Amino acid sequence: MRIDGTHYRSIWMEEDPGVVKVIDQRFLPFEFRILELRSMTDAYDAIAGMAVRGAPLIGATAAFGLYLAAFRSDPQNWCEEVKAAAEKLLSARPTAVNLRYAVELLMEKVICAGSRESMIKELLHLSIRFTEDEVIRCKKIGEHGVALIREIHERTSQPVRILTHCNAGWLACIDYGTALAPIYLAHDQGYPIQVWVDETRPRNQGARLTAYELGKHGVPHTVIVDNAGGHLMQLGEVDLVLVGSDRTTRCGDVVNKIGTYLKALAAKDNKIPFYVALPSTTIDFELTDGRQIEIENRDVVEITHMEGINEETQTSSLFRILPEGSPALNPGFDVTPAGLVTGLITEKGICEASEAGIKSLF
Ligand code: MRU
Repeated sequence: MRIDGTHYRSIWMEEDPGVVKVIDQRFLPFEFRILELRSMTDAYDAIAGMAVRGAPLIGATAAFGLYLAAFRSDPQNWCEEVKAAAEKLLSARPTAVNLRYAVELLMEKVICAGSRESMIKELLHLSIRFTEDEVIRCKKIGEHGVALIREIHERTSQPVRILTHCNAGWLACIDYGTALAPIYLAHDQGYPIQVWVDETRPRNQGARLTAYELGKHGVPHTVIVDNAGGHLMQLGEVDLVLVGSDRTTRCGDVVNKIGTYLKALAAKDNKIPFYVALPSTTIDFELTDGRQIEIENRDVVEITHMEGINEETQTSSLFRILPEGSPALNPGFDVTPAGLVTGLITEKGICEASEAGIKSLF
């Protein structure tokens, strides 16, 4: 994706084999900063501290984190250090299953009887391949999902109005995005679209990141408060809801950013198609029921305070917005039952959100 004429991904490497670069998403949209990860601990901190976020990017960062653990390891103790790094990385965030998928994929290849040098080479190769594969999966999600937008436009001859929640764009996914991939492709193919961007309290990934991405790509969009979605649906202002997922069970229950469930309920009540876009790395084939998934409870400072830019000084600050001492609760994700999901858009095509539907593709 391009930012002011330069092509970026949200994670990449340059010449130095000891440095992995990411866009530090904590500063967007106020400041574009690149963060250098030089160790497994840097990768862990980037995931846990939300410098990187979004299910596919969390997985890719964990993969490179494992490579960095091997790269920096003590030649006498390298295998133990890589195993400990895997455990540590797995604990960085609990909900997005892509993290576990990536770490397990790489750890399958860690053979302690081999040499440290060959392991470093192998983990680098696997991290790069995993990242490239996620990009290809997202590109294909776009190619399958764009058919939904095209169909609505051909039927109505009007701009297609799409509501999205959180940030499921290229920042979250290395490139293209999940929910935003069909949107970018439709825009690039010349279909008129208008995106309703949920602000996505409390961290405002929609207002800060999705609006930033869409703006840089020239996609027409309007930011709305989270509570406006149902109202716009009732007014007939939404043709399609497109969201991402952090983990989807093999029966099609979808865990995504807090607030997704309420959008699905409102969409159902208003007979608006509600689609979830996800690569297969987001499917947890071990689980059947979304309520089995651990929901991350985050620091309440995300509720009690809000960050914004001071227009005069152009510096960002944190503002308290609650009475001092008021308790708050901050669950990061919720479960949308499969019955509320019209379909899943995956790299292999679109299927019903059900065990049979997922089995028909995977
Ligand atoms: O807490 P975040 O910002 O990592 O949550 C991200 C989401 O909920 C996205 O919708 C999700 O990862 C899906 S697609 C990238």
